[in-house]
Amino acid sequence: MSPTSARVGHFDAAGAARLDRAYATPQIIEQRKRLRAVVAARPGEVGLDVGCGPGYLACELVREVMPQGRIAAIDHSDDMLELTRARVDREMLGSRVEVRKGDAAALDFPDGTFDFVVGAQIYCFISDILHAIREAARVLRKGGRLVILDTDWDLCVWKSKDRLLTRRMLDQRCSDYAHPHLPRELPGLFHAAGLTLSSADAYAIIETRYDPDFYGTDLIGNVRKAAIRQGVTLEEAAAWENDLRSRTGEGEYFFCVNRFIFSATK
Ligand SMILES: C[S@@+](CC[C@H](N)C(=O)[O-])C[C@H]1O[C@@H](n2cnc3c(N)ncnc32)[C@H](O)[C@@H]1O
Repeated sequence: MSPTSARVGHFDAAGAARLDRAYATPQIIEQRKRLRAVVAARPGEVGLDVGCGPGYLACELVREVMPQGRIAAIDHSDDMLELTRARVDREMLGSRVEVRKGDAAALDFPDGTFDFVVGAQIYCFISDILHAIREAARVLRKGGRLVILDTDWDLCVWKSKDRLLTRRMLDQRCSDYAHPHLPRELPGLFHAAGLTLSSADAYAIIETRYDPDFYGTDLIGNVRKAAIRQGVTLEEAAAWENDLRSRTGEGEYFFCVNRFIFSATK
């Protein structure tokens, strides 16, 4: 396995802690709200959160299916699972959320187990994506829904001194993903997996001022590190980051990224 492919979808303790913070930003809280509106979980339903990460979504969804319903939350990272378990315990949801280690490409559940399967920012990491979507379809009951939120990284922009360098930094970061442009492939993948596309929505995260507690601000350092790993020089990356972080004056900062939320029915 090449160093790049070994990294795809891997979150160690530091990566998990960074994501835990990033997912508490107002932009990602709103993103989960939009996602949950599409999932439209109902009391009594049984759902699966694939690639649950730090567990925010699983804890929110279970409140919508309670008191009888339940959520299974799986991830392949022990560090992420630790965060999810801690969150579930803190929120006293242990009897309704089952947290277990698992691989999205080989789901350890019988056919037809779930009313819905949701995957936020996880399918972009999976090389054999059609197989993973077929797995999600397999564990859905007839009439159940698969909801996927993901990003097309061509639709991410920062206002900067050097637009082409910004594009290059973002393009280099695409190596963090098996599918950095997944949303445009999803309708075809659903069709190939025997699912029927039922909705396609977009949520644009837009930040018009520099704030250290915003999602896009957190992303700057992550893009810098990934671009350096892919050969952007330290000097170029530092100049890019400094430019963005110096934009603290009124009207100087702009960030936008598009998230897509697709839903399909079995
Ligand atoms: C960007 S995070 C998203 C977390 C969460 N879904 C959310 O949006 O809050 C991606 C998560 O997918 C997990 N992941 C990546 N590949 C996976 C796989 N093949 N099976 C299970 N989890 C995976 C990672 O460990 C990480 O927790």
